[in-house]
Amino acid sequence: MKYLVTGAAGFIGSSVSRRLLAAGHTVIGLDNLNDYYSVDLKKARLSSIASHPNFEFVQMDLENREGMAALFEKHQFDRVIHLAAQAGVRYSIENPMAYADSNLIGHLAVLEGCRRTGVKHLVYASSSSVYGLNIKMPFATSDSVDHPLSLYAATKKANELMSHTYSHLYGVPTTGLRFFTVYGPWGRPDMALFLFTKAILDGKPINIFNNGEMSRDFTYIDDIVEGIVRIQDCIPQPNSSWSVEAGATSTSSAPYRVFNIGNGNPVKLMDYISALESALGIEAIKNFMPMQPGDVPATWAETEDLFTATGHRPQVSVEEGVARFVEWYRSFYKV
Ligand SMILES: NC(=O)c1ccc[n+]([C@@H]2O[C@H](COP(=O)([O-])OP(=O)(O)OC[C@H]3O[C@@H](n4cnc5c(N)ncnc54)[C@H](O)[C@@H]3O)[C@@H](O)[C@H]2O)c1
Repeated sequence: MKYLVTGAAGFIGSSVSRRLLAAGHTVIGLDNLNDYYSVDLKKARLSSIASHPNFEFVQMDLENREGMAALFEKHQFDRVIHLAAQAGVRYSIENPMAYADSNLIGHLAVLEGCRRTGVKHLVYASSSSVYGLNIKMPFATSDSVDHPLSLYAATKKANELMSHTYSHLYGVPTTGLRFFTVYGPWGRPDMALFLFTKAILDGKPINIFNNGEMSRDFTYIDDIVEGIVRIQDCIPQPNSSWSVEAGATSTSSAPYRVFNIGNGNPVKLMDYISALESALGIEAIKNFMPMQPGDVPATWAETEDLFTATGHRPQVSVEEGVARFVEWYRSFYKV
């Protein structure tokens, strides 16, 4: 099949593209290569897939309306995996407009392309951050998600709402995946594992927010990729017996679904740091800090729906995943 993967130079998008190419699909990878973090890292991820004969890279902004329309028209994609976005909770406090451009206008451009060219399934990235002020654990897709704590989270919730509209009005089958803290080789330099590894190897202190009183449902990249690839084949069907009063918030009378995609096994931040210290063989210098604005103390995904749909349960433990990240980091940066 012919896929559009947006965010193809990103952490998750490059890994998904690699996997689709290995399975024999054609991938058009779109990314604007912005400098939110190292462009060299984005280019290195791309160069690991660029030589594949079934891969084509397009450097473009999602917000380029005419460019996006022409891209969809030219390629007539079978499937779209939309992962490009302005990511990061903390940066959305500093630069909220970047989130409106990439995540709202950009998402709309993808929806428009899908409806105008009859794409058979759009899978897009939502986020665990939509759970905002919720405290009931684990977070379930049947929970209300109307109290976000950052503009990033609000744009991800908006993506789900916009997708529902297109599923309802135009019958575009859409599946939103709420990712829970993804980590692993080729990871993001603005995320804790990358920042901690760099600081520890440089002999600098690591900043530990909320005095370490945090837990996250850390999810290894290969488990995320497996979930995305499998969910591609689960095209949502309209559910005619659905009603809003029945409370099934993750489905609809339209061809629309939302899933959590996480490990289903929260890990304390201090245990994650211990796994990193033992993988590196170095003890971290720890700088305990207060909670950051926009952040949440804990996440934990309820994942039974995804398991029922795909038959996949996450396989990789934090000890193993962190060790694989460190191995990649040391070989990539030669440290
Ligand atoms: N990594 C996680 O833990 C996590 C958690 C929750 C949600 N997500 C979501 O998953 C998706 C992928 O995340 P990631 O970790 O791979 O992030 P990433 O930043 O590594 O990848 C996103 C890519 O999109 C590109 N991009 C950004 N804005 C663009 C625009 N306007 N036009 C074209 N390209 C643009 C960037 O250059 C980048 O390469 C994002 O939507 C993110 O919000 C990720």
